[in-house]
Amino acid sequence: MIDPDKVNLAMWRESVEELLRDPEVNAFADNVTKAISQLRTAPAEVKQELLDSFSHFAAQHGIKVDIDPETFVKEMVEAANTGETLLRFTADSFLPMQDKLMLDYANYWSEITDRHIKRGTYQRMHEFMGPADGLHLDVGTGIGGFLEGLKTDSVIATDINHYCLREAEKRLQAKGRKVRRLSASYIEFDKKHGFVIRPRPVKAVDQSIINMVIDDARTLENARNSLNSCKADSASFTLVRDGCHKNILGFLSHYEPADFKDTYLSQVAELCKPGARILAVYRSVARDAQGITILGVSRNYGEAIARANKKLDIEKVEIIVLGNEDTDVYKVSNRDDVKSAEAAYILLARVR
Ligand SMILES: C[S@@+](CC[C@H](N)C(=O)[O-])C[C@H]1O[C@@H](n2cnc3c(N)ncnc32)[C@H](O)[C@@H]1O
Repeated sequence: MIDPDKVNLAMWRESVEELLRDPEVNAFADNVTKAISQLRTAPAEVKQELLDSFSHFAAQHGIKVDIDPETFVKEMVEAANTGETLLRFTADSFLPMQDKLMLDYANYWSEITDRHIKRGTYQRMHEFMGPADGLHLDVGTGIGGFLEGLKTDSVIATDINHYCLREAEKRLQAKGRKVRRLSASYIEFDKKHGFVIRPRPVKAVDQSIINMVIDDARTLENARNSLNSCKADSASFTLVRDGCHKNILGFLSHYEPADFKDTYLSQVAELCKPGARILAVYRSVARDAQGITILGVSRNYGEAIARANKKLDIEKVEIIVLGNEDTDVYKVSNRDDVKSAEAAYILLARVR
């Protein structure tokens, strides 16, 4: 089990303290508090609606709240005397929850990584891609399952989850690899999404070692900073899927790498040299109407990716069967007579 990281949480809190001194943020929060304060005098059914939506929200995100929703809403209304008290209350309640969700995710993915290592999933990816020499960029590294088998030590590995990066660092160091981790993040206030997690910008890194760098896959800003106007010789983006992060700060669900399915590889390609190979492995449940894993559609998939990414040549595409990731054995799914398996499209592209 991964230990909680008090330092990162403290940095999040510190950045919220800074936000509380920002007049623009406070003016926005004051408007929100006006809306909330109307709740005090709101009819019972409006209050009930709010309670219901909070419970639904918590359940949907798998959040176990320490206080019951009624108390939570009551406290929130009381806290909302000014923008500052509201923001402080929200930060006090939500930041530890968000931290916990990221910790839980890292623990969950750590187990799944072990299963994939045992099943040879990452080995299969390496055989498919061929050996990486030169500088490699890995986007959405997770616990580093793919990196373990990478032959080069010249790596920029990025992820938004500081716990994943920390665990990946630990595992790779235990294998004698030279690793440096830059995983600090802070909180910003976004009018649309509320509090959002932002990676602390990094400067140029030592490209002869494995660098674990916090980054948002949507912007790839820290990947770019770490490359420092160099370009990568190869890149990987493995086992992604929609909605892998539960979140309450309203950030990650909008920026899942898988949201960029069709055109995302072009963004990664911009950070790579001409001729560089990009390995992409998209998790998917690929079954036919009978529930049998479809192995025949991979070529169409490659064509779709090629159409959406004009600067890439798709060299090969296959489907690999991953099995049910949550169990050690393949499981019989909704239809008792049919074996089902989770699969992934594995695709190798070359930058033009
Ligand atoms: C399903 S895991 C795959 C991990 C790894 N590539 C592997 O093959 O084992 C997806 C990873 O993407 C990361 N992720 C999700 N949204 C992200 C974002 N916006 N920016 C960077 N990483 C993100 C998650 O934290 C998670 O570690």
